[in-house]
Amino acid sequence: MADAAPPPAGAVHAPLRHDSAEGHVAGTARYTDDVPETATTQHLAFGLAGCGHARIVNIDLSRVRAAPLVTGVYTARDIPGINDVSPVAGDDRLLAEDEILYPGQPLFIVAAMTRDAARAAARLAVVETGPLPAIVTIADARAAGSVIEPAQRMARGDAAAAIANAPRRLSGRVSVGGQEHFYLEGQIALATPGDDGSMHVLSSTQHPSEVQHLVAKVLGLPDARVTVEVRRMGGAFGGKETQAAAVAAAAALVAQRTGHPAKLRLDRDDDMAMTGKRHDFEIGYEAGFDEEGRIAGIRFDLASRCGATADLSPAINDRAMFHADNCYFYPAVEIVSHRLKTHTVSNTAFRGFGGPQGMLGAERVMDDIAAHLGRDPLDVRRANLYGPGRDVTPYHMTVADNVAPDLIAELAAGARYAERREAAAAFNAAHNILKKGLALSPVKFGISFTTTHLNQAGALVHVYTDGSVHLNHGGTEMGQGLMVKVAQVVADVFGVAVEHVGISATRTDKVPNTSATAASSGADLNGMAAFRAADAIRARLAEFAAGRFGGAAQAVRFTRDGVEAGGERIPFAELCRMAYLARVPLSATGFYATPGIEYDRASHSGRPFLYFAYGAALSEVVIDTLTGEHRVLAVDILHDAGRSLNPAIDLGQVEGGFIQGMGWLTTEELVYGPEGQMLTHAPSTYKIPTAGDRPRRMEIRLWDRGRNAEPTIHRSKAVGEPPLMLAISVFSALTDAVMAAAPGRGLPALDAPATPERILAAIAELRGRALA
Ligand code: MTE
Ligand code: MOS
Repeated sequence: MADAAPPPAGAVHAPLRHDSAEGHVAGTARYTDDVPETATTQHLAFGLAGCGHARIVNIDLSRVRAAPLVTGVYTARDIPGINDVSPVAGDDRLLAEDEILYPGQPLFIVAAMTRDAARAAARLAVVETGPLPAIVTIADARAAGSVIEPAQRMARGDAAAAIANAPRRLSGRVSVGGQEHFYLEGQIALATPGDDGSMHVLSSTQHPSEVQHLVAKVLGLPDARVTVEVRRMGGAFGGKETQAAAVAAAAALVAQRTGHPAKLRLDRDDDMAMTGKRHDFEIGYEAGFDEEGRIAGIRFDLASRCGATADLSPAINDRAMFHADNCYFYPAVEIVSHRLKTHTVSNTAFRGFGGPQGMLGAERVMDDIAAHLGRDPLDVRRANLYGPGRDVTPYHMTVADNVAPDLIAELAAGARYAERREAAAAFNAAHNILKKGLALSPVKFGISFTTTHLNQAGALVHVYTDGSVHLNHGGTEMGQGLMVKVAQVVADVFGVAVEHVGISATRTDKVPNTSATAASSGADLNGMAAFRAADAIRARLAEFAAGRFGGAAQAVRFTRDGVEAGGERIPFAELCRMAYLARVPLSATGFYATPGIEYDRASHSGRPFLYFAYGAALSEVVIDTLTGEHRVLAVDILHDAGRSLNPAIDLGQVEGGFIQGMGWLTTEELVYGPEGQMLTHAPSTYKIPTAGDRPRRMEIRLWDRGRNAEPTIHRSKAVGEPPLMLAISVFSALTDAVMAAAPGRGLPALDAPATPERILAAIAELRGRALA
């Protein structure tokens, strides 16, 4: 460590493997579908709308009811409570009532003795509808003025005047597609009724408290009668932040009605049809700048397809606005954001939560300015970075922890940007068909929920008389390694090995009123809450030890070799046993609320984030100008995880996030039909990256000078989402390669995802342009 930090004392900062690594690989890690079933478990399937926007005239379910092994069919009329599974707006029906809003909307639930029987029966309904006009695309919705909420505006200074007065000007647009989460474990829930009217739900959700609340709402029960439990998810990526609630509520409804356990596991096709995805965006921009490419004024027009209901779209589109600056200072700026309501499945959270789309706009502008001026895009990026006296964001927050210039300099030098730029130019001069491109782009991502009250967490720690520790907190495990990180924090408090800390399932009856594990804040929030719970117990033990062995409580030390007090060294387990006999309580809760953040949504100004996470990536690609195909040849990444709680886990997050972002921008294409139906509905029609798409050379380093300027848990930084946006360097590199296929004609009109078709079309269009 460059800052001469003391060597790691306990488990914190150690590159430990994921607590379930072996279980994941061996197949022994238990997911919801692996929990043994009882003989009377009901298996469910949703009956989905086959058509788009329509009035329901009649649903004939007689053939469904008569199908083999079917035990019951349930419609909106069977809901004892309120027919709503929405996170905020109250507009998501569990089951449609008289209007179908999008193709794939659930209409009814079938229960049967086997899953196959339920799925087969669900297709036998005869649905009579009266078609209504469907608004499907962003353009349709804009023309019709169809929105989920009024357009939002974020601004500082007079952007129009600054652009008008700048020596150079440009305007442009780019569209960016949505993205399917493609978690390996699909949406699932298993509901088990209690003998007292209560309900226990095993749910694959990032947000157990919200599932608890919505299940209670649908069943007409108080929240306290519903317990939601999550041991782990097989991937979530934002797709289980709100979308798990409908599945859980359906299972709970049938469990309540029948008195038997009920399980609903969505088929992959149904999952892709009925659950939300990343929002696709149309981005328009206008910028005024000087001969160096330095921006004087800029305007963005952001428009996204939100789908049929609000879901989390307001906050997601806010985050797009928050990241339309990325690492760049805009002296005068206006960002207008349109949230469009369409008759398509409601879009939702996806890693980055709108940030990636906003950031892509910023990076596109950098590439456009560079092409305009014939300059190296990295020089233009550098000229626009936040810096001293140029440090206020469009939302009026001062950037106080800017490490982007250092990261970029270190990466550009270490990865030999200048030499590789020359080598690519030489390659392109020598090759007619293959063209190389490269790009180095930075990331700055705001950490905190922008809805301020969500920035809270709770934890529960027990120490037993044998010195073993039980850990529980409100965060959920989706593969990201949250459990091991928080266990490391607790182990460090007591000076014990991480194996001493028992990781347990997240449960709403242990820690209440939790926020979703989202916004990358899982370790920041739950790590601190768990630290406080453990620290409260440690303080009691220290006091007890000082009383027994002499010295001051503050002088008691918890080390790997035991607890040192008054010149004695006592094994931790021994001290716990003695404390128990002396009637010292060995259980505590901990609570954390992020300090210092506030935000006024009406004026879109304030300090929404506690700090920023930063990174930079250099990507090198090659395209085939005859087929439009490409390969990502090499990627160099330098990422700031602060003082990483667990560098092994964090490297995994950087690599996984990058590859997922690369998929979003290159191969993953969502196609909607004319009625808004999802035509890309399974791996047969939707291409996520495979092992073969991983860049041949991938060099990922965590920044060794990383240290959070804010007093976060052990000065670490959140790492879950930011690396996804490093993949924008791949998109810029592809743009660069297309430009090399027809030099001197300006910026190619390349949209995302940059599929072979789009790359070919961009080359053709560029070659058709006159030389600039
Ligand atoms: N990593 C894995 N393996 N699986 C996931 O589902 N979700 C991502 C990220 N990394 C995800 C993941 C998303 S969208 C978020 S917000 C964070 O993890 C959430 O976890 P954290 O807050 O503990 O980082
Ligand atoms: Mo992550 S999109 O915040 O669940």
